[in-house]
Amino acid sequence: MGYKVAVVGATGNVGREMLAILAERGFPVSEVIPLASRRSVGQEVSFGDKVLKVKALEHFDFSDTDICLMSAGGTVSKEWSPKIGAAGCVVIDNSSAFRYDSDVPLIVPEVNADAVAGFTKRNIIANPNCSTAQLVVALKPLHDRFGIKRVVVSTYQSVSGAGKEGMDELDRQTKALYSMKDPETKKFPARIAFNLIPHIDVFMEDGYTKEEWKMTVETKKILDPKIKLTATCVRVPVFIAHSEAVNIECEQPITAEEAREILRAAPGVLVIDKQENGGYATPLDAAGEDATYVSRIREDATVENGLAFWCVSDNLRKGAALNAVQIAEVLINRKLIQPRAKAAA
Ligand SMILES: NC(=O)c1ccc[n+]([C@@H]2O[C@H](COP(=O)([O-])OP(=O)(O)OC[C@H]3O[C@@H](n4cnc5c(N)ncnc54)[C@H](OP(=O)(O)O)[C@@H]3O)[C@@H](O)[C@H]2O)c1
Repeated sequence: MGYKVAVVGATGNVGREMLAILAERGFPVSEVIPLASRRSVGQEVSFGDKVLKVKALEHFDFSDTDICLMSAGGTVSKEWSPKIGAAGCVVIDNSSAFRYDSDVPLIVPEVNADAVAGFTKRNIIANPNCSTAQLVVALKPLHDRFGIKRVVVSTYQSVSGAGKEGMDELDRQTKALYSMKDPETKKFPARIAFNLIPHIDVFMEDGYTKEEWKMTVETKKILDPKIKLTATCVRVPVFIAHSEAVNIECEQPITAEEAREILRAAPGVLVIDKQENGGYATPLDAAGEDATYVSRIREDATVENGLAFWCVSDNLRKGAALNAVQIAEVLINRKLIQPRAKAAA
């Protein structure tokens, strides 16, 4: 017997990827229900070789649904995730609405799968920000061996991180520029085509942006509260996959060769690191893939026990949909939930 799974935001970038990943990984489902806003009722989405019709979230009864993969933005999550959790359905929430709540686990299965057990307090598990997810996958094995004290990271984040509207804006502006027309700017705070924007999410009082703050706070919650992290988050004109230039400072001496060896054996990581043309991962290589790619590993001689590397991953997959499905797999594999239809029988 399988699980009844609802996907909220099924017409969006992340929701569509969730449906694809559930099918690809043969997730044990009895039924999959794609949900979105009223605007999308009746729209068709793919689930493996099946076509499903989208239903409205606001009219859906979750009382016999086992798992809800929630990916419709913070406002929808704030209103709906607690209600769905209270109806006995476990919510895996992709928004930032609950990530920082002490009674909601924030999970990247390769890093802190054991913390999942805390989900019972509210029936909500949070998925991290896309830039944090790939970063902690790469940091975890290095932290275990060398003890990371400080991280300096600069991100190069694709437009799909800003949803369908972000991708449409890059597409529209690029076409406009090639047709000698004025590129209209609606979604991003500046032109993104043939440009980049050092500003993601709102500004905070200390001058950092909220996206940068999220990386600091989430890394502490998932990996280790003692790690200090400073981030500069930049939107770049790439459709899919986020890249990160990372510098770490460790307690223990670290060499590039040791780091390479440890990362090669780490779950979820793929090392591509040859010092030659194309001997590294680019966003194009990572798009559509599950791995967090690590390249350009080298010692950073400007600090004691320092290392620099490059890290790339598909933000819609490891940064969102894949991580959410992996969390659901942890719940099932550890027998933390069982199908409600079976429990009632
Ligand atoms: N993109 C990423 O890299 C990424 C990574 C991590 C987390 N996330 C998070 O994932 C969520 C979705 O991101 P996305 O990139 O998939 O956005 P998106 O492409 O803009 O899709 C948004 C989805 O939410 C649905 N929705 C909007 N308002 C709704 C409502 N009132 N009731 C029900 N459904 C509603 C939309 O349905 P309609 O089509 O009917 O409007 C659509 O299916 C956000 O919380 C985002 O922060 C995204």
